[in-house]
Amino acid sequence: MSDPVPVLTIDGPSGSGKGTISRLVARRLGWHYLDSGALYRAVGVAAGWADLDLDDAGALVRCTFDTEIGFREGDGGELRVLVNGHDATDELRTETAGAAASAIAAIPEVRAALKDRQRAFRRAPGLVADGRDMGTVIFPDAPYKVFLTASAAERAERRYKQLKDKGVSVTMDGLLREILARDARDASRTVAPLRPAEGAVHIDTTGLGIDAVVERVLAVVAP
Ligand code: DC
Repeated sequence: MSDPVPVLTIDGPSGSGKGTISRLVARRLGWHYLDSGALYRAVGVAAGWADLDLDDAGALVRCTFDTEIGFREGDGGELRVLVNGHDATDELRTETAGAAASAIAAIPEVRAALKDRQRAFRRAPGLVADGRDMGTVIFPDAPYKVFLTASAAERAERRYKQLKDKGVSVTMDGLLREILARDARDASRTVAPLRPAEGAVHIDTTGLGIDAVVERVLAVVAP
């Protein structure tokens, strides 16, 4: 039997730098990339378009099954996400989509419905999978696992800069409160709570530059 396609799982809370790091590491390795949060966000966006109530779990589960989610590379090499055929990349990144994704991600049937779609990304020569439960639930047999963290204050600061660059007015206090609330929700939900996978290498990115983190993650795959 041939060896299974290798997977590097990168889990951690929002703002830990997972997205940026995972994309760069995937490019360096020449591996495929799964942004699993984008799937939850895509369902959140589709639910918003259909005006669904975020408390109506049944409707959200149906919406998960009915939503077509596609990924393609944009002209600048960036990842673009198509929801039911429409480019929803920018909408996916809004706070509204993030909040909807967080609520939707707490529904066990939604998580189950997205399992196979995530596993389908495992194709040769390898996959970098970015999310919350990549190493614990989706790819428990992955040979390489990383758990990225950063202090809540640093994550709030990174988010503050991003939003300020976009011209969105927010306060540091408000952002920090939001981040702590989302951490607590993601860590305390009964299904697939955010926790490090067994054997995952912990990397604290507080005070580290992107390049330094990329090198540390690459060292996990090729020590
Ligand atoms: O990583 P992100 O901010 O794009 O994720 C959006 C939401 O989806 C976040 O609240 C956590 C949830 N999520 C999850 O529960 N499991 C994943 N594998 C990825 C994201």
